[in-house]
Amino acid sequence: MNLKDLYINFFVSKGHKQIPSAPVVPENDPSVLFNTAGMQPLIPYLMGEPHPYGTRLCDYQKCIRTNDLDSIGDTTHHTFFEMLGNWSLGDYFKQESIEWSFEFLTQVLNIPIERLGVTIFKGNDILPLDEESYNKWLSLGIKKERIAQTEKDNFWIAGEIGPCGTDTEIFYFRSEEEIPEVFDPEDERWVEIWNNVFMQYYKDDKGNISELPKKNVDTGMGVERTTAILEGVNDNYLSSIWKDVIELIEEISHLPYAGHEKSMRIIADHLRTAVFISADEAGIKPSNTDQGYILRRLIRRAIRHAKKLNIDISSDWEQLIAQKIIDKYQTYYKELATNAQVVLDGLAQEKLKFSKTLEKGLKEFEKVTKDNQDIDATMAFRLYDTYGFPIELTLELASERNLKVDEEGFKEKFKEHQELSRSASAGKFKGGLAGNSEIETKYHTATHLLNAALKEVVSKDVHQRGSNITAERMRFDFNCDHKLTPEELQKVEDLVNTWIKQALPVTKKEMNKSEAIATGAECMFIEKYPDVVTVYSIGDVSKELCGGPHVENTNVLGHFKITKEEASSAGVRRIKAVLQE
Ligand code: ALA
Repeated sequence: MNLKDLYINFFVSKGHKQIPSAPVVPENDPSVLFNTAGMQPLIPYLMGEPHPYGTRLCDYQKCIRTNDLDSIGDTTHHTFFEMLGNWSLGDYFKQESIEWSFEFLTQVLNIPIERLGVTIFKGNDILPLDEESYNKWLSLGIKKERIAQTEKDNFWIAGEIGPCGTDTEIFYFRSEEEIPEVFDPEDERWVEIWNNVFMQYYKDDKGNISELPKKNVDTGMGVERTTAILEGVNDNYLSSIWKDVIELIEEISHLPYAGHEKSMRIIADHLRTAVFISADEAGIKPSNTDQGYILRRLIRRAIRHAKKLNIDISSDWEQLIAQKIIDKYQTYYKELATNAQVVLDGLAQEKLKFSKTLEKGLKEFEKVTKDNQDIDATMAFRLYDTYGFPIELTLELASERNLKVDEEGFKEKFKEHQELSRSASAGKFKGGLAGNSEIETKYHTATHLLNAALKEVVSKDVHQRGSNITAERMRFDFNCDHKLTPEELQKVEDLVNTWIKQALPVTKKEMNKSEAIATGAECMFIEKYPDVVTVYSIGDVSKELCGGPHVENTNVLGHFKITKEEASSAGVRRIKAVLQE
C-alpha cells in the first residue's frame, strides 16, 4: 500500500472522515493564487463554522507553492506537492495529535525512533513555552536532546492574517552518516516531514492575536519527502514518485540523470505542476496574469531546460512527459483523466508560442550581454514583452554569466504595463472579476441576487463559498446540507426575476470594515479585506462587500434561468445559471 492510502486508513481508524482534495486554484479565496496547504480550503471551519463531515477530518491535498521557484532543482523542493493532513475541529488537541503522529511514523511506517527529532515552541513575550508538547514527546520516548525549542519556526500561519498557532515539527535524519546525539533543525541532514499546528488563535490585520472559538489541530505531511525517506533515497527524484519521469527524460534526451540533475528535476517538477494547474476545473490557460502567468513561466522554464539538454523542442517530448504524469496520478485525481486533452493541447500551444521567439530572444540576450553588461530594466522588459522571457528566465541566464539584472526596475515596468492593460490581478483582489465585459458585469450583479434569494428561500445561513463568471454563464457555490428541491429552485429563480423586474437600483458606498459588518453586509473571508471596503446594495434585498463592477439597475439583466444544481464538495452545492435576453 502506498503512503497516501496508509495515512488515510490510519486516520480513518482513529475516527476521521476523509474529505476530497480541493482544486489547486482556490474557489473561495481570491487573495491567494493557489492552495499552499491542506488547511487553506478549511479556513471557515477552523474559524468555527461546523463542517458537514464532523470534527475529525483527513485528506491528501494538492498544493502549489511558488514563492521559492529558485530552489527547484535541489533534492527536496517541489512547486506542486501533495500534503497529507489530519484535522481536529475543536475535537482532540495536543495529546492525541502527537500520539497519533508518533504511532503512524513508528508503527505503521516503521521509522526507527532514533531517526526522529522534533521542534517545539520556545515561548516569547506573548505566548509561553509549549510544555505540554514537550512532555508528551518525552513520554513517548523522544530524548530531550532530540527536542529542539525554537520561536520563529514554531508558530504557523498561512500568510499574514488568519487562524494560527504554535506547532511541533517532526524531522527525520536523512543521511548515511552517524546520527548525532543532539538534534539540530538547522543541520540539513535532518529533513522536516510533518508539522502539527495547534490552531487556537486568530491573527488580525493589525497583528493582534485572539483566541479562536475552538482549539483545533492542523497537520501537514509532505508526500514526496516521506516517500523518499521510506524508500531510503537521499534525492526525492530517485523515489518511486519521480523515478519513471526522470527515466523518461533520460530516454528523450539521451543523457544520464547523473550530471544533468538540475535541468531534469526542473523539467519534471515544472511539467508536473503545469499538468495539475491546467487540469484544474478553474480552466487556467497560460497568460500574463495571475495563475496563468505562473503556468506560462513554468512551461517556458521547462522548455529552456529541455533545450539545455539538447532535446529537440519541436518533437513531442513534453506530451510524453505530461502523459506519463497524467497516467501516474489519474486514479487519485480524476480531473487529470477528464481534462487530459486540454492539458496536452495547452502545453503544445504554449510551446509553439514560445518557440517562435525563444531563439530570437536568446540571440538578443547574447547580443546585449556580449561585453558582459548588466541588464537594465528596459532590456529586461524588452525580453519579456517582445521575446516572451519571464523575468526568471532572464535572471537565470544572467546568473549563469554572473551578470546583474535590475529586477526592481523590471517589476515597476511590469506593473505599469499590467495597470495599463487593466491587470486581472489588481481587479481580482478587489472582487474576483477579471474580464469585466458588459455581460460579465451583469452576471456579477445576478450573483448577488442569487445569493440573496437563496437566503430567503433556503436558509438565512446560506453563504457564498465560491463564484466563477464567464461571458456565457455564472456559477455560484454555497453551503447547504441538501440537494435543492425542484420547488426551491423554482422559487429562487422566480424571486431573482421578480427583483429584476422591480428595477432595483444598485448603489455603492465606501465604509470602514467594522461599520460594514455592523450593517450586516454579506462577505466571504472578512479578514482578507482592507480596512476601507466597498459595499454594494441592491434595493433593500442585498448588501455585500465587493469590488464590483455592477450594473446600475437590475432592469438591464434580462431573464434569469438556473441551468444546473449539483454537489460541489462536501456540504457545498453549486448552481449554474444564465441570463437570457
Ligand atoms: N498547515 C501546516 C503546514 O502547512 C500544517 O505546515
